Amino acid sequence: MKGVRLVFLGPPGAGKGTQARELAAEWGVPQIATGDMLREAASAGTALGRQAKTYMDRGALVPDDVIIGLIAERLAQPDAKRGFILDGFPRTIPQAEALDRLLKDLGRPLDRVVFLDVSEPELLRRLTGRRSCPVCQATYHLVSAPPRQADVCDRCGNALIQRVDDREETVRKRLAVYADQTAPLLDYYRNQRLLASISGEGDPDTVRTGIRRTATDRVGP
Ligand code: AP5
Repeated sequence: MKGVRLVFLGPPGAGKGTQARELAAEWGVPQIATGDMLREAASAGTALGRQAKTYMDRGALVPDDVIIGLIAERLAQPDAKRGFILDGFPRTIPQAEALDRLLKDLGRPLDRVVFLDVSEPELLRRLTGRRSCPVCQATYHLVSAPPRQADVCDRCGNALIQRVDDREETVRKRLAVYADQTAPLLDYYRNQRLLASISGEGDPDTVRTGIRRTATDRVGP
């Protein structure tokens, strides 16, 4: 699909990364995932990464001004001219307002905001069973999407890890932060007639088919 500009919105574990990675490759646009960008900065030990890690490890959001600066730089890169899938941004009303301003200045408004709806018990199951590759960012699930060889990334062969913020206590904190700070974006985008809500449950291929259909459909009243 040419030049698509989408936001994938949803609670932690809804499948935003799983879907964005595949569809961005399919559509030839970059997946812009703020969580991945922050984790890369943290493992590189940059000042930004060290600062971000103190928030991420306890399930809190990184301050808006830091994230907005990061996104402004990323959207200015040449590959984002073709379009993009934003995964994990925006997450607060001030971030959404900043994105509106940025895209208005660039003359490239959003096409759609896709909300992946998943129940809380399923989110807990997914996140506590998730294993991630710290090098290529591929994700697996111990039960529903295991790697071919236990604890080894299929794509790059590195050892898989459990993210510090995927421990149950921190997952519960992230879900509470989502309900408090990110869920209000549903009304924000509904009011702009950009929101398309689809079930994020069911197998990943079925969810992907739903997103493909939704991303190209006209949004109803
Ligand atoms: P981030 O990395 O963005 O985490 P998140 O939003 O909490 O999302 P996740 O990566 O946990 O879940 P996902 O929806 O991508 O699910 P996934 O596809 O992996 O952010 C981490 C932290 O960074 C934040 O807490 C914050 O501190 C900071 N941060 C990032 N952005 C920020 C921002 N904008 N502002 C402020 N701070 C920010 O799938 C999860 C699992 O489920 C996997 O195991 C997968 O295999 C499995 N799965 C996926 N789909 C299915 C399916 N259909 N059926 C069964 N299993 C499935």
